[in-house]
Amino acid sequence: MPHHGRRTTLAVRTLPPDYDHPTTRQGFVSLFGEKTFSCRLKSLTFCVALKLGDKIILTIHDLAFGGEGVGRYSVPLDQPTSPDGPESASTPDALVVFVPFVAIGETVEVEITELKKNFARARLLRIVTPSPERTTPECRYFGVCGGCQYQHITYPEQLRVKQKQIADLFERVGKISRTVVAPVIPCPSPYGYRNRIMIRSQWNGPARKLEIGFIRTDNKFVEDILECKIAEPALNEQILAVRAKPPPKGGIKVVLRVQPEDWQVPRDSFFQNNFFLLPQLEATVRDFLQASGARHLIDLYCGVGYFGITAASAVTSFVGVEYDKLAIAAARENAASRGVTNGEFIAAQVEHVLLDLLNRFSASQTTVILDPPRKGCWPATLELLRQTRPAQVIYVSCHPATMARDLNILCSEGVFKLVRVQPLDMFPQTQHVECVADLRVLPFGN
Ligand SMILES: C[S@@+](CC[C@H](N)C(=O)[O-])C[C@H]1O[C@@H](n2cnc3c(N)ncnc32)[C@H](O)[C@@H]1O
Repeated sequence: MPHHGRRTTLAVRTLPPDYDHPTTRQGFVSLFGEKTFSCRLKSLTFCVALKLGDKIILTIHDLAFGGEGVGRYSVPLDQPTSPDGPESASTPDALVVFVPFVAIGETVEVEITELKKNFARARLLRIVTPSPERTTPECRYFGVCGGCQYQHITYPEQLRVKQKQIADLFERVGKISRTVVAPVIPCPSPYGYRNRIMIRSQWNGPARKLEIGFIRTDNKFVEDILECKIAEPALNEQILAVRAKPPPKGGIKVVLRVQPEDWQVPRDSFFQNNFFLLPQLEATVRDFLQASGARHLIDLYCGVGYFGITAASAVTSFVGVEYDKLAIAAARENAASRGVTNGEFIAAQVEHVLLDLLNRFSASQTTVILDPPRKGCWPATLELLRQTRPAQVIYVSCHPATMARDLNILCSEGVFKLVRVQPLDMFPQTQHVECVADLRVLPFGN
């Protein structure tokens, strides 16, 4: 019997009641015993059995959010359940196996590293049939460093993958039609774009060595690095400077950043981390705003005032809200240095001031920008928007999962309608993607 390993996972598929293949039944009995077999005789005729360390061949059908490839593995009982056993793409109940660093369409040999009730994880051993979209990563640490997931995939394919992931997610979580998701706007510089990175250090006891770099894919250890290919060149110089004066015991976290030329940004305040695609992000928000014809703008989670200030000339008045007081002081300076005088900035929690702000302007003339942190908006904030019904909500997010959840809330019972989602690749080579969504209020009773 091939499958008596310690941690075996079974995925069982239901076949028609009249399915009664003798060899399959025999295999089933030998695996589970007559009793189990007889009680499941009619329904269970197909199973997968795997244990940790098994080596199997998979075809990759998709890349999930997070970057892992998705393969399906299933073994009919009348066939030998050898590691090279058959796998089927079209078997919905086959065991899903996630594998990092693969591309769609590839056939790969993998080793099972984790078994759960409904899925498994595996590590790539060998590429049997490579995808034409496979390419050579630029970074020597790719695959070990946890920063990038897609350097092995051509840039156009990364964009296609991200668009599909967003459309799939919005359809599943947000109950949103995938047709509203536009193609991803590419970054003009797919490497060397990041203007902010965090360097960590960790004492490696066994090697008696201080590692200075990024968290590895295993999420436990720091990979010692000399350079980062997705960071701006100026940051790579800063990495060498940090390495030249290492802390004695490790445990440091140093944020390295390149300041934008014409924006005041306090050291610990937020700023978009890709200058190369910033003009397109700004233009997307401004275009959505202008298309609505709204005269008032409420820029929530405004940081140093980026969206409010760059869109100020499209509206009569605007208000920015942010709880980082230093960012608000910088926002006021940023507006003044540009001669922007039709707005104000409030240092407060969004939840505390939103109702007053919404009461200040006519709802039918108001656009609200939401650019919350990765965890998304508070339910009370979304509920307030549903109650007060501003003409437009522009939702900006680098976390499509929480965004889809929040869009679902805003759109439920026909309060808002999502008319377009524009993804922008602010984070090439990585699993991340920025999205801007244009929501319009629907007439009552929709
Ligand atoms: C993703 S950043 C967006 C910043 C800005 N829109 C930009 O593009 O530069 C989110 C901002 O929300 C702020 N923030 C988070 N929770 C908040 C809250 N409850 N109320 C007000 N500001 C908040 C953070 O300090 C951060 O500056």
